[in-house]
Amino acid sequence: MEWNQKNILIIGANGGIGSALAKKLFESSAIIYGTYRRTKPTEDFWDSSHLFELDFEGNLEEIQTKIQQILTSHNIDIVILAAGSAYFGNFSQMSLHDIQHTYQVDLISPIVIAQSVLKYFLEKGEGHFHIVAAIAGLLPAVKNMAVYTSSKFGLVGFVRALAMETVGTQVRVSVSCPSGVITDLPKNALGDKEGFLKIIEILKKNFESAEDVAKGILEGMGSREVLNLPTEKAKALSKRT
Ligand SMILES: NC(=O)c1ccc[n+]([C@@H]2O[C@H](COP(=O)([O-])OP(=O)(O)OC[C@H]3O[C@@H](n4cnc5c(N)ncnc54)[C@H](OP(=O)(O)O)[C@@H]3O)[C@@H](O)[C@H]2O)c1
Repeated sequence: MEWNQKNILIIGANGGIGSALAKKLFESSAIIYGTYRRTKPTEDFWDSSHLFELDFEGNLEEIQTKIQQILTSHNIDIVILAAGSAYFGNFSQMSLHDIQHTYQVDLISPIVIAQSVLKYFLEKGEGHFHIVAAIAGLLPAVKNMAVYTSSKFGLVGFVRALAMETVGTQVRVSVSCPSGVITDLPKNALGDKEGFLKIIEILKKNFESAEDVAKGILEGMGSREVLNLPTEKAKALSKRT
């Protein structure tokens, strides 16, 4: 895929996967834009005027307005959504707030953002929208993550169904399902963080670097596939479905 001089918006640009994507795209001469929630990315490849604060827990109409403004004022060609949070813990103990929060951050806000991006790309006549979901969107990967897992299943199903609405246009949608990636996601998790960190400590020998996963995501975006398994490990795991 040609990244050179493309205007690319990375949603969740300060995250482990988001920042690895930003670095690779910058090195491929793309013009990168990004959103963050708490901490503005500080890597020197960022132009700070290309960075915007965006919280998925905010008002959904305001999220759409903000996204529309970024897209139109910077003539964005490609959007990659790499933001999300994890909740670990027994479902029966989960508060209603945490159920709602997990769906808002991991499913509803991405879908609301997808609507703004799709409208903009369809009017423009071209564009590519990609969502980083997870292998958990194809198979239950870790016990005690029922709501997180179902939100990722939702994202995968959403993008696959949405792809049918883009047939015959120059607009593409795709979704990737990485397996375990070494990032701060477990440290940022909600719920039983200590329990989650213990499980991750055991599982992490099979985890991959954010750089390798970012490389696989970008290669997959160059293919015609809607569903992208970015690494050999993700491909092997997906066969368990
Ligand atoms: N790490 C893995 O093993 C793994 C595997 C497969 C898929 N994934 C998926 O990949 C995506 C990125 O995860 P990561 O591993 O890069 O984790 P990460 O390093 O914790 O990054 C998460 C990103 O999401 C943003 N975010 C979290 N809550 C948000 C909110 N309420 N509003 C807006 N942005 C929010 C974070 O911003 P702040 O830092 O500013 O809060 C950060 O940019 C997630 O959807 C995750 O489910 C991760």
